[in-house]
Amino acid sequence: MSHDAPARENAAATEPNRRRFVDRLLGVTTFGMFGAILHPVLRYLYPPPASEASVNTVTLPVRASDIPANSGTIFKFGDRPGILVRTPGGDLRAFSARCTHLNCTVQYREDISQIWCACHNGLFDLNGGIAGGPPPAPLESFVVRLRGEEVVVTRS
Ligand code: FES
Repeated sequence: MSHDAPARENAAATEPNRRRFVDRLLGVTTFGMFGAILHPVLRYLYPPPASEASVNTVTLPVRASDIPANSGTIFKFGDRPGILVRTPGGDLRAFSARCTHLNCTVQYREDISQIWCACHNGLFDLNGGIAGGPPPAPLESFVVRLRGEEVVVTRS
C-alpha cells in the first residue's frame, strides 16, 4: 500500500468542488460581462425619467451689458433652444426658439426687428406674437431677470 493513496483520494474528492467553483466563477464573469454590455445599451434606449426638458431656469453665459440693442441670440434651455432678444428699445426678452408651426429653430432678424423662422417664413413680433406666415400660435415666452450682470431666464 502506498503512502500517496489517501492524498489521491483526497484530491479526487476535491476535484468536483474545484470544478464547480470554476464553473460558478465563469458564470458570474459571463453574467457581469453581459451586464456591462447591456447596461449602456438599455440606458440609451430607455433614458432616465428626469430629462433636461424639466429645466426651469438657466443662467446664460453672457453679460447683460455685452448684448447690443436690436440683437438676438440662441441659448440652450434644457434640451430645447431658447432665444434671447435685446429689443431696439433696450429691453431683454426671452422665448422658446421652437417655431410653433413645425418646430424649426427661429432666429432674430435685425433688418426687420422681428423673430423669423426660415423654414416657412414665419414671423413673430418682439412679444412672441404671430406677425406673419403659417405659425398657429405665439412663441412660449420666458421671464428674464438680471442678477448683477448675469442674465437669468425662467420658464413662466
Ligand atoms: S416651421 Fe416655422 S414657419 Fe414652418
